[in-house]
Amino acid sequence: MTLRKISKEQPGNFEFTQENFEEAKKIIKKYPEGKQQSAVMSLLYLAQNQNDNWIPLSAMKYIGKLLGMPYIKVYEVATFYTMYNLSPVGKYFFQICTTTPCMIRGAYDLVNVCKKNISENQNELSKDKSCSWVEVECLGACINAPMIQINEDYYEDLDVEKTEKIIEQIKNNEKPKPGSYRGRKNSEPENNRKTLLNIKNA
Ligand code: FES
Repeated sequence: MTLRKISKEQPGNFEFTQENFEEAKKIIKKYPEGKQQSAVMSLLYLAQNQNDNWIPLSAMKYIGKLLGMPYIKVYEVATFYTMYNLSPVGKYFFQICTTTPCMIRGAYDLVNVCKKNISENQNELSKDKSCSWVEVECLGACINAPMIQINEDYYEDLDVEKTEKIIEQIKNNEKPKPGSYRGRKNSEPENNRKTLLNIKNA
């Protein structure tokens, strides 16, 4: 579950950067005349990305005005879907899957690494405020378990050592490489496939 609590500390004002404003206009244009409010989810996501991974109330009001819809309707959408964070999270936001396939492959070892190297509790910023972590339900990469989503990217086939390395790289302002950490391409079998050998590109 991502952070559903509305932050007590709210910035007074929000507006899209020029670049995001242009992007918002493009998104709105995708919808037929009179149905522009359907762009609300995409615009909330854009606002979240612009605002270091969380959505302040001022962004909901701004989006409501942009789409000509009541603020309360934007608020309802933002508070319903768990992909929207309503309080500050780290600039690097670790979502650790702890559903069964990841759990039996060591997800709680990764949770312990995050407890040690980021913050003792989930939804709490690290001392340098750069990172936070949270446990989430299945992220659809079970075949590469255990895995963590960090912002937009999936980091898969992890273990304690590799997760520590990823955190260290992030803290050194380096970008760790997303994907499998056991050298697999996507979800291909390790040590070559054993079945469907007569089918090319299977
Ligand atoms: S169980 Fe972890 S990605 Fe599906």
